[in-house]
Amino acid sequence: MSTPHISASPGDFAPVVLMPGDPRRAAFIAERFLTDARQVTDVRNMLGFTGTFAGRRVSVLGHGMGIPSVSIYATELIREYGAKVLLRVGSCGAIQRSVRVRDVLIALAAGTDSNVNRTRCLGHDLPAVGDFALCRRAVDAAERLGVPVRVGTVFSSDLFYAPPSGLNERLTALGVLALEMEAAGLYGVAAEHGARALTLLTVSDHLVTGEKLSSDDRARSFEQMLSVALAVAAEES
Ligand code: HPA
Repeated sequence: MSTPHISASPGDFAPVVLMPGDPRRAAFIAERFLTDARQVTDVRNMLGFTGTFAGRRVSVLGHGMGIPSVSIYATELIREYGAKVLLRVGSCGAIQRSVRVRDVLIALAAGTDSNVNRTRCLGHDLPAVGDFALCRRAVDAAERLGVPVRVGTVFSSDLFYAPPSGLNERLTALGVLALEMEAAGLYGVAAEHGARALTLLTVSDHLVTGEKLSSDDRARSFEQMLSVALAVAAEES
């Protein structure tokens, strides 16, 4: 069996899947953190792997950029490969001065300028929320591992470049922590299919102060976030 976008066989994916945007990050996670990792798909170079972490079976699959892309991979993982828990591990741009580059954020909920969740809900707002039990596990794991995390709302934007004038300032005033491009779509797909999802993010750049992470710093904070996500994945497997 394969789907239009995933060439894996039935049973190739574990029920818990980590999802970075970049497929090379998926390869990095598999090589660096999983034992006996095996590549299970490579359609469009969107690499997926399954191995074990702390003795538990865990998969990792890139999801690409933006809500349409993450929605396709998340839907196929859940519907065709039996995935139950999807953990996005990504990056974001902070829009609060109290959030700093390198911080790790957990997206409790996500607003969006995309119409996908309204389309799902016949024109009404569908709350795009992360799974509470996963969020609690992530906060507990972060505390155990000594990784400071902020839990709050993010905004999943379709427009990476040139947002409408005033939007970012309004989101800042409304307490939104950061911009990214997928969480609201992932949460909508999970709701539609009865799966559970959570988004963990590292702050790679700051849209108010203009600060940006060097690539070394980016890798270090990515690994901190990953240690939290892997702890959650192992507990859920
Ligand atoms: N906007 C959207 N997504 C992002 C950003 C941003 O500024 N930075 C990292 N991911």
